[in-house]
Amino acid sequence: PSTAARSSDGELTVDGVPVSELAATYGTPLYVVSETDFRARARTFRTAFNAAFAPETEVDVFYAGKAFLSTHAARWAAEEGLNIDTASGGELAIALAAEVPPARIGLHGNNKSDAEITRAVELDLGRIIADSVEEIGRISAIASGLGRTASVMLRLTPGVHASTHEYIATAHEDQKFGLSLTPVPGATSDSANPYLGSPAWTAVTEALAAPGVRLIGVHCHIGSQIFEPAGFELAASKLIDFLARIEASHGVALPELDLGGGHGIAYTEADHPRSPEAIAQALAAAVRAACREHAIAIPRLSIEPGRSIAGPAGMTLYSVGTTKDVVVTDGLSRRYIAVDGGMGDNARPVLYDADYSAVLGSRRVTGEHVLSRIVGKHCESGDIVVRNVYLPPAVTRGDLIAVPATGAYCHSLSSNYNYLTRPAVVAVRDGHTQVLIRRETEEMMLARDTGYPA
Ligand code: LLP
Repeated sequence: PSTAARSSDGELTVDGVPVSELAATYGTPLYVVSETDFRARARTFRTAFNAAFAPETEVDVFYAGKAFLSTHAARWAAEEGLNIDTASGGELAIALAAEVPPARIGLHGNNKSDAEITRAVELDLGRIIADSVEEIGRISAIASGLGRTASVMLRLTPGVHASTHEYIATAHEDQKFGLSLTPVPGATSDSANPYLGSPAWTAVTEALAAPGVRLIGVHCHIGSQIFEPAGFELAASKLIDFLARIEASHGVALPELDLGGGHGIAYTEADHPRSPEAIAQALAAAVRAACREHAIAIPRLSIEPGRSIAGPAGMTLYSVGTTKDVVVTDGLSRRYIAVDGGMGDNARPVLYDADYSAVLGSRRVTGEHVLSRIVGKHCESGDIVVRNVYLPPAVTRGDLIAVPATGAYCHSLSSNYNYLTRPAVVAVRDGHTQVLIRRETEEMMLARDTGYPA
């Protein structure tokens, strides 16, 4: 977090709290999140995007809860003026428990259940983002049955490849999300409307005719961990072209354009994402130009950053256990430093080949650093937390290792593999700590086994 510092004796502190105190009080592994940093990042997105698009339009920032969600985090985001983007009934339940007004919540999902849609409609959520033609009919039927009209956006796939890793590239055409702008094979073509026969166009036609649906706009999410504005600009211009076509053919100016999340963060020193201000300014210029070109009014914008708000605000604290020196090749050896967590609390290295960095948190040690690899305690050789990092040779059992930038997609992707319990999440702010999510106990974890205790 930006609030991390070294005390005079060399110990790492976060928001003024020494890591040894955090470890002694809450145990390790421990997710630590700086409330100060989380809030500051939330504010930065809101301010930067609204400044860039003023005075023509406003930008709603929906915090993407999948990155990290707890009732407290949802409250922080809401207090900073953000809305909440949820991807399931469970995430929605957390946002509601945090008393986020339903009008400020969006619901995503490529396969929403009837129960999830019913709940969203009953609550009159700010937006349900429809992901298929079939779903539009289902939303409309459920809403009509309840005497309601649901506010719906359509998730489109503009075919922009803006991701660094295949599994998080969601705008490829050949994937499960959204509605393609490309006509399906055999569709009747129309030189005036290149979208005719595409799932996206069919969805618009259906949504405009559906009695239980109020179509408020279009959405896309082009991927994750994006560093440059070009992909967002291209996606925006494609969606604006589509909005202009809707206006020309249906005579309806849809008021909203949501460009999703995906704003990248620095996991290591090799990562150099552009600032939210730079992304916002480039995007605003592209949106203005595209709307001018198509002679349509600038819609109200929204974005859905998750990682870029929660990621850098968090870090994981581990205790060092076993260390080993292993010969890699002649003259090169690597120190394996095993910590008390691993792929259960951070699946990203094994899932996405993700890189992290690490520092010795408990003390400062001088001397030449050695090539080290931080590994977990799971029964799998791919259970690596940090592939390559230079650490002091004196790192030893009982030391605390801090891995920065673990605030997003670590707790939310955590598992009980090997029946390891999941860590607590503790927030720090101005020298104070607060447990956001309790450490899982063995009893909590094993309670699902119908034969336990024997
Ligand atoms: N909006 C939509 C519709 C999304 O699908 C996502 C992420 C976001 C917003 C937030 O994206 P962000 O700003 O956090 O990049 N588990 C992967 C990331 C999966 C992202 C899925 N969708 C990882 O750990 O890298």
